[in-house]
This record gives sequence, C-alpha cells and structure tokens, in this order.
Amino acid sequence: MQPAQTDLAPPKDDPFTLEQLKQFDGTDPTKPIYVAIKGTVFDVTRKADTYGKGKSYNLFAGKDASRALGMSSLKPEDAVSDYSTLSEGDLKTLNDWFDFFSKRYNIVGKVTDLPPPGSASDSATSAL
Ligand code: HEM
Repeated sequence: MQPAQTDLAPPKDDPFTLEQLKQFDGTDPTKPIYVAIKGTVFDVTRKADTYGKGKSYNLFAGKDASRALGMSSLKPEDAVSDYSTLSEGDLKTLNDWFDFFSKRYNIVGKVTDLPPPGSASDSATSAL
C-alpha cells in the first residue's frame, strides 16, 4: 500500500454524464483517467499503470464502478453504478473503497445522470 496522498486538491464539483465519463477510460493516453464511486468522480491518472488501457483494473475506468468494487468483482458486467442490491458486507467494502480513493485521488466532479437504483438501464443483468 502506498501512503495516502498529502497533496490532494480541494474537491471539484464538475458535472459528468455517464456518456462523458467514457472518454476517460484510459483509451486515449492524452486524457486523464477517471473512476467514479457512488457518483463521485476520482482522477486516477497517476496510477495509469493500474487503470490504463490493458491494465488489471481498467474495467473500473471511465465509469461508475460502485457495484463491482462493493462485490470485489473484476467482471466488466459488474462495473455499473447500481449498488442497491449489495449485502451489508459488500456495502461496507464499497464504503471502504470510497475512503481509500478519497485519501489517494483528487475528486474532479459528480455523475449527474446515475440511473435510479434497480433500474434496467444500469443493472448488472442489462449488461450481460
Ligand atoms: C487475486 C486477487 C487479487 C490480487 C492478487 C490483487 C492485488 C492487488 C495489488 C497488489 C494491489 C496494489 C496495492 C497497493 O497499492 O500497493 C491492488 C489494488 C487494488 N485492487 Fe486488487 N487484487 C486482487 C483482487 C482484486 C479484486 C477482486 C478487486 C475488485 C474490486 C480488486 C480491486 C483493487 C483496487 C480497486 C485496488 C486499488 C488500486 C489503486 O488505486 O491503487 N482487486 N490489488
């Protein structure tokens, strides 16, 4: 584990739609890489070796990956925002990841169009 960053910038509140977030999935090396958790967008560019194209955690990049983080899943179909069906334990895991990212990465904004919990447009099953 690396120590928490001590030089984080004040959180920004820029709006991102899920569609806009997709640009920041590491495919374009000239753009930053973002991961959103519970609608909060984190800039993970300094760990491009982890989240960049072809890297182990690229599945979380350019999206709100709350569900997969809570479930400790690396399945791309789980990397969606809806965490409404997670167990208590998985919700705790999700919140622990939120804290982990908060301590290490700058917050650049919020996702403005998260689908309502349990809706078909962003549930794990619709991505299959
Ligand atoms: C065989 C299983 C796994 C191994 C060996 C593994 C290994 C690692 C290692 C070595 C790190 C770096 C820790 C550090 O910063 O020093 C890490 C970070 C991480 N792992 Fe895993 N992992 C595994 C499974 C998973 C799974 C199932 C998830 C799904 C949620 C996951 C999500 C993450 C995340 C989000 C990070 C933080 C990366 C960062 O921002 O630095 N890992 N893992």
